[in-house]
Parts: sequence; C-alpha cells; structure tokens
Amino acid sequence: MKHLIDPLDLSVGEIDELIAVAQDIEQNPEKYAHLCEGKKLATLFYEPSTRTRLSFEAAMMNLGGKVLGFASADTSSAAKGESIADTIRVVSCFADICAMRHPKEGAPQVAAQFSGIPVINAGDGGHQHPTQTLTDLLTIRMLKGRLDHLTVGLCGDLKFGRTVHSQIKALSRYQGMRFVLISPEELRIPSYIREEVLHARGIPFQEVERMEPVLPKLDILYMTRVQRERFFNEEDYIRLKDTYILDKHKMQYARPDTYILHPLPRVNEISTEVDSDPRAAYFRQVQYGVYIRMALILKLLNIHAE
Ligand code: CP
Repeated sequence: MKHLIDPLDLSVGEIDELIAVAQDIEQNPEKYAHLCEGKKLATLFYEPSTRTRLSFEAAMMNLGGKVLGFASADTSSAAKGESIADTIRVVSCFADICAMRHPKEGAPQVAAQFSGIPVINAGDGGHQHPTQTLTDLLTIRMLKGRLDHLTVGLCGDLKFGRTVHSQIKALSRYQGMRFVLISPEELRIPSYIREEVLHARGIPFQEVERMEPVLPKLDILYMTRVQRERFFNEEDYIRLKDTYILDKHKMQYARPDTYILHPLPRVNEISTEVDSDPRAAYFRQVQYGVYIRMALILKLLNIHAE
C-alpha cells in the first residue's frame, strides 16, 4: 500500500505519469466518471481548508466515488482526546483512502503507520503539502510546456509556507532548475531546505529581499501569503504581512511569458487588479488541482482507465 506523505514519495517518473493522466482527465472526463464507483474517500481535516478539502471531494465525486469526513478537529473525537493512531484505525473501517490535514508536522506520517488504507498528506503544519505541489507542477507544465530549465521565483513567507518547501523539493529533481527566493530576512527558507535540498543537489539559487529587480529573470513567480497561524507573535505578523504586494505597477517588470501562481488563499499579497492580467494563473491552478487529485486517487487505489 502506497501513501503520499512527502513529495519525494513519488519518483519523477510517477509524477510525469500523474501529469499525463491529469491532462487526459481534462480532455476526456467521461472516461473517468465511474472508475471509483463503490469507493469512499475520507477527508480528515484538523485545520481550515477551502481548496484542498473541496478539491479532494470534487475529485472523488468526479470519479464516481463517495466522500465522508470532518472539516475541523472540534467536530471529531480529537476534541475528546482521541489519538491520530486510533482515529485512522477507525477510519480505515469506513473508507478506502483518506486525505489528512493537521497543524502538527508529521501527523499524516504517524497516521500512515497505523492505517489500513492509503493516507495522503493534505498539509502538515509548516512542513509539507505534496498535493499542492502536484497541482503546481501540473500548472507549470500546462503553462510552460515543460518542467525543466526554468527560473522559479518564490516570494513571501518562505519559512512557514509548506507549499514552498514541497515545491522546491519536487522541482529540484528536474534538469536546469534555478530558484530566486524573495523574502524578508526573518521569513527565509528553513535551513534543511537550503542545505539538504538546494546545496546538496547543487541547485543554483539566490536569496533576495526586493522583488522588482529579479522579476525580469523569472519564468514563474509563485506568490505566498504570510502564514498568520504559524506566528508566535501577532506584532511580528502585522509588521511582515504586507511586505510584498504584487500590483499592476510591479507586473510591468515581469516578462510577457512570466506566469503568476499562488496556492491561495490570497490575503493582500496580490492586488485584485492583477487578476485580469493574462499572466495571472492562480485560478486556473485551482482547476488543475482537481485533475491531479483525481489522477492521484486512481494511482493510490491502483485503478486504471484502460
Ligand atoms: N492551497 C491550499 O492548501 O488551500 P486551502 O488551505 O484552502 O486548502
């Protein structure tokens, strides 16, 4: 039984296969409409979510399956003190596969050790968010036609932003990738990403504080929000939250073929005036998230279209 806890749980070849299936799902949705009939997906969300939970649920419904679950710890027996290990043993009696989001880093990994069904990490604290990364990779492939020889700018809260950590891990395995890491000093990437991923693999990267000078270099600009819920101190959050606001004026520095991605939710870091720019791809990204999660559910349940 396979789980998806970390983006590196999938080989580059497996990710390429998932992307190919997702592209086929977009073109031929009817081919996939009944493949999960009789199957159930449990969504165990101990932390708020709009996109990840609902896109998992939409993905399973699009495949003809059913969904069950909870959307907050308060409405589950976690509120009575039940452990992750016991919860997943119980849920394994109800469902065929589950997606788990939890504020504690490593919680889905613990669940996988006790689970009778495949566990998908739907975001664990400030650690990893592998299915957002699959979404991002599919989006980049659709927009740029490739996943190699690209310069990707990641901007905002690179310390707590789990989508950033997962994306660097996954993209670092492709040839010719470069990263431009744009953040305030206090929100730079964790040292394990810098040392164990970027330095260890010899990936070229630079860390800068200002966005405008680097914009012309970028193929992709990945904006992120400052993660209020991970701060120990509200004053620090307020001081840092509006460090970067991408607006029409700043978009003039970006090339015509530079696409803007964002895992969402957006707070203030992309002005709504950018939404109508053809380079703004963050809502298309959400749609791609459904296709890639459909492909992932099929893979983990070992179901094939033909
Ligand atoms: N991108 C993402 O994880 O969004 P949600 O928090 O709404 O699931």
